[in-house]
Amino acid sequence: MSKYKYIIVEIENDIATITFNRPEKKNAMSPDLHAEMCVALDEVAAAKVKVMVLTGSGNAFVGGMDLEKCFFDNWDDPEKFVEGIKPSFEWMKHLKTFPAVTVAKVNGWCFGGGMEVVGLCDIAIVAEESTWGLSEVNFGIFPGGGTTWTVVNNMPSRKQGLYYTLTADTFNGKEAVDLGWASKAVPLAELDAHTDKIVAGLVKKGRVVMQKCKEVYERIDNLNMEFPEAVDYEIAKLFELSRLTDDDWIRSGLQSFKKREYKPGLEEYKLTKDV
Ligand code: COA
Repeated sequence: MSKYKYIIVEIENDIATITFNRPEKKNAMSPDLHAEMCVALDEVAAAKVKVMVLTGSGNAFVGGMDLEKCFFDNWDDPEKFVEGIKPSFEWMKHLKTFPAVTVAKVNGWCFGGGMEVVGLCDIAIVAEESTWGLSEVNFGIFPGGGTTWTVVNNMPSRKQGLYYTLTADTFNGKEAVDLGWASKAVPLAELDAHTDKIVAGLVKKGRVVMQKCKEVYERIDNLNMEFPEAVDYEIAKLFELSRLTDDDWIRSGLQSFKKREYKPGLEEYKLTKDV
């Protein structure tokens, strides 16, 4: 029997899929669900998969934090209150620096904390019909627990970030692309197939190179590096990558290109070993 009750964890062939599974509650994230996510992310990280997909059961991705179980029910017991929400901070921080490529597959309702989850993922493939919103102001708070951070770091401008924070207006999956929350939007009927195709492409690439893509992007983004520092940092990381992969990009990737076996503009080199 699975050790998880509120999520489904599947790990197979370099891919992990975690499904938020409280469809009767629109997959709202309760303290128990958060605690399970802490364990699940450790399990997936230890499995060294290349890609981790996060999605939801039923017609919701994540309806946000469980407003009753996380907030209302525990408010008068401060210790229990903090105990209930602390695991959410833990797994969200882990998600932000997760070693595998993280893909949010947004199949439906996506509110507040659900938007935070998507905002922390590397890639988001979303249903055009999905509905998104920063609903916090509607029940009297601001988007907290890291959600405002994801607004600032995903939305293209202050005017849009503050507009959706202050009005709680909803938007759909197509608009989510323009607003910076999603990489691609497709009709719901095509969401699974489209995501599978992208994931299949990702797992053909090297584990280390994808990790280094993420690390380099993160550092340059977070430290707001100046161009000369970024150039030096990137070349140093290239040597690190080369060492970690036993120079596979030269010995296999470019060797194969030299023989005109593939076109790097359109396809990846065939990995000869697990790097
Ligand atoms: N916390 C706790 N319970 C939630 C929830 C949440 N964030 N989101 C949905 N639920 C519960 C509903 O209360 C309802 O429970 P019930 O069957 O015991 O009455 C159940 O899930 C189904 O939701 P319902 O509201 O009937 O579905 P709907 O399709 O009419 O509406 C939403 C869907 C998502 C628009 C609506 O549920 C909603 O506004 N949820 C809250 C969104 C939100 O503000 N999230 C917090 C962000 S941090």
